Amino acid sequence: MAKDHSKNETNRETEDTLTNRQGHPITNNQNIRTVGNRGPATLENYDFIEKISHFDRERIPERVVHARGAGAHGYFEAYGAVGDEDIAKYTRAKIFQEKGKKTPLFVRFSSVIHGGHSPETLRDPRGFAVKFYTEDGNWDLVGNNLKIFFIRDAMKFPDMIHAFKPDPVTNIQDAERFFDFCASSPESFHMVTFIYSPWGIPANYRMMQGSGVNTYKWVNKEGEAVLIKYHWEPKQGIRNLTQAEAEEIQAKNFNHATQDLYDAIEKGDFPEWELNVQIMSDGDHPELDFDPLDDTKLWPNDQFPWMPVGKMVLNRNPQDYFTEVEQVAFGTGVLVDGLDFSDDKMLQGRTFSYSDTQRHRVGANYLQLPINSPKKRVATNQTGGQMAYRLDRGPFQNPHINYEPSILDGLHEAEQTGKEYTPMIKGNLVRESIDRQNNTKQAGETYRNFEQWEKTELLSNLINDLSKCDQRIQDKMISLAEEADEEYGRLLREGLKNAPKGGSSQHPLGDVDGEKAPQQAVENSH
Ligand code: HEM
Repeated sequence: MAKDHSKNETNRETEDTLTNRQGHPITNNQNIRTVGNRGPATLENYDFIEKISHFDRERIPERVVHARGAGAHGYFEAYGAVGDEDIAKYTRAKIFQEKGKKTPLFVRFSSVIHGGHSPETLRDPRGFAVKFYTEDGNWDLVGNNLKIFFIRDAMKFPDMIHAFKPDPVTNIQDAERFFDFCASSPESFHMVTFIYSPWGIPANYRMMQGSGVNTYKWVNKEGEAVLIKYHWEPKQGIRNLTQAEAEEIQAKNFNHATQDLYDAIEKGDFPEWELNVQIMSDGDHPELDFDPLDDTKLWPNDQFPWMPVGKMVLNRNPQDYFTEVEQVAFGTGVLVDGLDFSDDKMLQGRTFSYSDTQRHRVGANYLQLPINSPKKRVATNQTGGQMAYRLDRGPFQNPHINYEPSILDGLHEAEQTGKEYTPMIKGNLVRESIDRQNNTKQAGETYRNFEQWEKTELLSNLINDLSKCDQRIQDKMISLAEEADEEYGRLLREGLKNAPKGGSSQHPLGDVDGEKAPQQAVENSH
């Protein structure tokens, strides 16, 4: 009798037996429990109620921006130098010091404006967020594919996103709302010039650049700082799409970028990017015609050359989209020793926003999830909150002492590893825009740097969307283009004059200068 029973127990459950979350084997996953096979259901249907109520909660709030994304695991390999120079001269961050040192990481690429299943062919910046699991804890580099941004003050971000997202009444994205905001925010003109060119539709995630966009700092052992910009260069080359190419892809596959990344990694064709930095001495640099803290500006390469510091390889797909790609939480505040913030006003605003939204989107204990948790010891006195499943205090800690300081026991502060960076800050508290705004000069340079097919695309895309806008918005955009570059302004004005009102899916301008836009995208770099 006893023997039979244990045999039944063993046979009941094997490696692939379905269970509920209490560990109970599920014997019937097809039928709810009813009074007779046609009768009403009973309330003690525990397995059904657990199953359906968990299903009801399967979604968490979407990211308010960058909802559509794809992710992958990989590693960063340091070159142990910055260009030909000793990197320790500029930063003491351990991740960079030793040649060949590998640090695991997770990347999430994304598009910005539309929801979680929107097409990956839309004209939109692409997110490029990297979480480095360093020996000193996590470092997040939360960037985009383009190197500049629409605005330079965090105060404007919610308005900008409202204008770019679908109309609150029709739930349809509206070019007039987009250009209304941009025409009223002339600092956006440089970014508009990029976004309406083929650079606004990268061919896929593997063949796009990445950039930290905002200005950061590096700090060395002596506590001295420099200003830093970060840029990722894809070893696969850069490839952007014309509007027509994007439409052709979208008609057949609106997940093409996710699929391209997943398939490449599955077949062992691991994508790689080189991480480059631009370095500027700390200070406000009155000799430049732009402010180094203005994220609507490029730092000219000839004055501030790109210097390689390491490479990233993506070699493993996520096991589960939701637990890794959806729940991963990046933030600009997540820096390690040797890396620091600059006073870039966007960076300062962003740094509050990310962890704030993640406490709402994922929950108060989002940092305990495996994808977000550092791959090193964590020991804090933080405790409680929804879904806390682990004590973050160290195993050797007196369990009674969940506070610091204490004479008795408990956790202690770490030693400082180098001289602290203590910048001097002096000034009146004001609400003012920066000087040296120069909103259109670099847009003109970017226009002149474009190849002919890129100019053609830029103008036809702009004309198509602007022709749907109020005349006052058109006039303002034309005057910004004229300020940027004579040809740019003239062709935009002429194109809009001749365009059918309300836009057209045809390219109203035809071929600028009679040159045909090539059907294949070409490699380019700016
Ligand atoms: C995502 C805020 C500017 C890149 C997000 C999220 C918020 C946000 C709330 C959602 C985060 C989440 O749910 O986990 C802001 C604010 C900005 C700003 C307030 C300006 C003040 C920028 C800029 C960049 C950028 C300039 C590019 C450098 C990203 C990326 C993500 C993101 C890549 C997606 C991260 C992921 O894959 O999870 N941003 N953002 N943002 N933002 Fe920003």
